[in-house]
Amino acid sequence: MRKFISIKKKIDYFNKKAISVPGDKSLSIRFVILSSLSKGKSTAYNLLKSDDVLSAIKNIRKLGIKVILKKNKCEVYGKGLFGYKYKKNLVLNAGNSGTTARLLCSALIDTQYPIKITGDKSLIKRDMSRIIKPLKLFGVKFKDNKRKLPIFIKGSKFTKPINYTENLGSAQCKSAVMIAALKTLGTTKIKSLPSRNHTELMFKNVLKIPIKLKYMKKYDLIEVKGKKQIKSFDYKISGDISSASFFVVLTLLSKNSKLILKNININPSRIGIIKILNMMGAKIKFYNKKNYKGEMIGDIVIKSVKNLKAINLNSSLNSSVIDEFLLVFLVASRCEGVSTFEKLSELNQKESKRLDWGIKILKMMNVRVVKTKDDGIKIWGNKSSLSKKNYIVKNYLKDHRIFMLSVIAALSLGGNWKIYDPESFKTSFPTFLKILRDLGAKIK
Ligand code: S3P
Repeated sequence: MRKFISIKKKIDYFNKKAISVPGDKSLSIRFVILSSLSKGKSTAYNLLKSDDVLSAIKNIRKLGIKVILKKNKCEVYGKGLFGYKYKKNLVLNAGNSGTTARLLCSALIDTQYPIKITGDKSLIKRDMSRIIKPLKLFGVKFKDNKRKLPIFIKGSKFTKPINYTENLGSAQCKSAVMIAALKTLGTTKIKSLPSRNHTELMFKNVLKIPIKLKYMKKYDLIEVKGKKQIKSFDYKISGDISSASFFVVLTLLSKNSKLILKNININPSRIGIIKILNMMGAKIKFYNKKNYKGEMIGDIVIKSVKNLKAINLNSSLNSSVIDEFLLVFLVASRCEGVSTFEKLSELNQKESKRLDWGIKILKMMNVRVVKTKDDGIKIWGNKSSLSKKNYIVKNYLKDHRIFMLSVIAALSLGGNWKIYDPESFKTSFPTFLKILRDLGAKIK
């Protein structure tokens, strides 16, 4: 296996009519977990076949659920809400996937035997107390008081509904509580800072679970009535805006280029990057918008732009751009003027410490950047060319988004780049390099 890829040349002008990116990761993992709790055969079309989703599939198979992966579809044969087969000494490994670890853990709250949950080098560094805390309130036990994987969960048949306030703006925490609520008799009430709402939309429009939703000024209010069996379902997964965003930014920063990204999930809780880039002077548009089971889907049309403006952003959009912030930093580094972003501590809770990595990569590119007191970042735009310098990106815990960001920086700004751990992108976007090469990128 190769140790690194090298990029020595900016990408040339491209004007490709339309490309597609694979299915959305959040929706794919939710499909796998929720279908495993339903009764009968569920089918997903355009499921993302990345390492994170394959981790989710591997684990539900270990719980006795049959999954058939075909070229264009995935069939899951759920055995009902309490249909998992819990064996003694069961070990589940979520690989790199925080979403799998957190959502699956909450689906195990009825296990009669302790189950060990673990993950890879990056995942075992991440905080699990954010879901352990609410799950304990339901009456679930954990073997010790560890905040990090590996953890041992010991469930209960008599969990109690809870009232919970989710103050991190984390969709994984909110969803973990919602899934635990499914297996619990009575009504669980959640007050949650806004975050991606795919679980709510699936519960309401696909699974037809009794759920109340109210969007208030600061919090979203969610009520879930538990212990109702879920019927199997079919679901078409739309393209992942987090993957699409790498191409949005590459187009924006490359000269005379244009691209259409087809059939992308443009749920309002996910499009922070588009809103921010448009505030910075991009002219990104959505076409062919349609509603599929509550999710907005559309085509994204994007052209390169010469004079992007710096931005001072407050934190209100943070959760809707949580996985795309590094790309926003990259654009800010190419604007005239100084940009600021605030309250970004959640970025350091990801597959790597992404806020710190963002700063490190920008500094390497000679961009003036500082971390501010409120865990924000201040970036002084710098348009000078990178063409002759050498850049090395390594030891970043194989964080897929750090790898892909570095590739986009190299292709849009130039320089002589060596980017290590070239398998990293397979976590979320297995066709990333292929699409780039089809657009004309020279990557060795
Ligand atoms: C996700 C939620 C986000 C995001 C992650 C996927 C989800 O994490 O960063 O990639 O599918 O719910 P947090 O909920 O921890 O912010």
